Amino acid sequence: MPHIVFNKTDLISTPSSNNGVDFKFIAKSYNFTEHDRKTEYKVAVGYKQKDFLLTIKEKEENQMIKIDKVTRISPVTLVKDALNAYVDANNCNIVFSNTNNINQKVEPKKEYLKDINYFVDEFKTDKEIQIEIGFGSGRHLLHQAKNNPDVQFIGLEIHTPSIEQALKQLEIQEISNVLIVNYDARLFMEFIESNQVGKIFVHFPVPWDKKPHRRIYSNEFINEALRVLKIGGTLELRTDSRKYFDYCTELLTNLPTGKITIDINKDLEISSKYEDRWKKQGKNIYDVVLTSHTEDKNIDLDFDFTFDFNVDFIDLIKDIPTKSIVEKSFFIHIEDLFTIDQKENAGMIQLTMGNFDRPISKYLLVEDGKIVYYQGTPLPTSSNILAHKKLKEILSK
Ligand SMILES: C[S@@+](CC[C@H](N)C(=O)[O-])C[C@H]1O[C@@H](n2cnc3c(N)ncnc32)[C@H](O)[C@@H]1O
Repeated sequence: MPHIVFNKTDLISTPSSNNGVDFKFIAKSYNFTEHDRKTEYKVAVGYKQKDFLLTIKEKEENQMIKIDKVTRISPVTLVKDALNAYVDANNCNIVFSNTNNINQKVEPKKEYLKDINYFVDEFKTDKEIQIEIGFGSGRHLLHQAKNNPDVQFIGLEIHTPSIEQALKQLEIQEISNVLIVNYDARLFMEFIESNQVGKIFVHFPVPWDKKPHRRIYSNEFINEALRVLKIGGTLELRTDSRKYFDYCTELLTNLPTGKITIDINKDLEISSKYEDRWKKQGKNIYDVVLTSHTEDKNIDLDFDFTFDFNVDFIDLIKDIPTKSIVEKSFFIHIEDLFTIDQKENAGMIQLTMGNFDRPISKYLLVEDGKIVYYQGTPLPTSSNILAHKKLKEILSK
């Protein structure tokens, strides 16, 4: 993590610019929950068309400046440039720095790796879509993609080394019909239009016998899978875990629509790394396939995340809830408050909100009576939409 430690000095004045980096304002922690906490500052930066925050923390007689965790930005060279520009503008005495931009590693080509926002804003295809959840070594995904060039594959994984390996193989094997996303598969389907998907493969998911709430399969997941599947489309589970198999068949047999088929020790054209391991150990392999029989309504991803009322920041923070607001499918937790001394009645609210499994962290910037999400609005997931509506209710009181 790039950071610079320097002898304590006054903050730079804002708004100002240095070496192409704009310093827009500096917000100061309000000591909202912990009263004896050391002061922390957030420096709002605009650089190469991106907005992000730097954090300044007190460290005995020194200060340390680094990237703010919530507004993280890539590539890391942008952060290093901004940190260097800050200490240069401050003309301070540097004690430690790891922000030298010489000898930067060149980022590997990642044209098939897509951010989740791509699926919200841009993704469109006339091809049939097939999705593989937790592709691991990628053996099955790459085999399917090679043998079905007219299908658009989407591979979901949360394990970075597996993603890197699959991206490398896509280049080596010149496969161009796969998009890879580093995103929790339980929430991904919310961004796919209804009735577009031919197959969803879930092969050897982590069984989570001790923490079943972490499993991929749940009622919500199955309903979302049925919505995105076209008529005749299938959700295919393959597992070595008898417990997972029983759990899924129970969920699937209680559905009002769809048809399920069950197999034991069925051979597929390609055997995955995990499958090889379980077969060597003589374990049974179970397949449960759910076929969709219904056409579903489309979803609306154009939700308006604005705050259509004016507020007074000082009044607002007096009554802001310090405890989490927890409802059935979402929550909101106000983490921290920051005031902006250079602007009248302005500040930032740091919060965590949305889905319990994949919460998002955001800042709200309050200035001139208006509230906006700093660094863009949340993704339009159902939990974020519900959390935003609740937030509007709380902040407009
Ligand atoms: C047991 S491995 C199986 C890998 C591969 N399907 C195979 O058969 O060899 C499970 C994979 O699912 C991934 N995974 C676990 N939870 C996930 C989630 N919520 N979303 C996407 N991938 C997930 C893990 O990172 C891991 O690579």
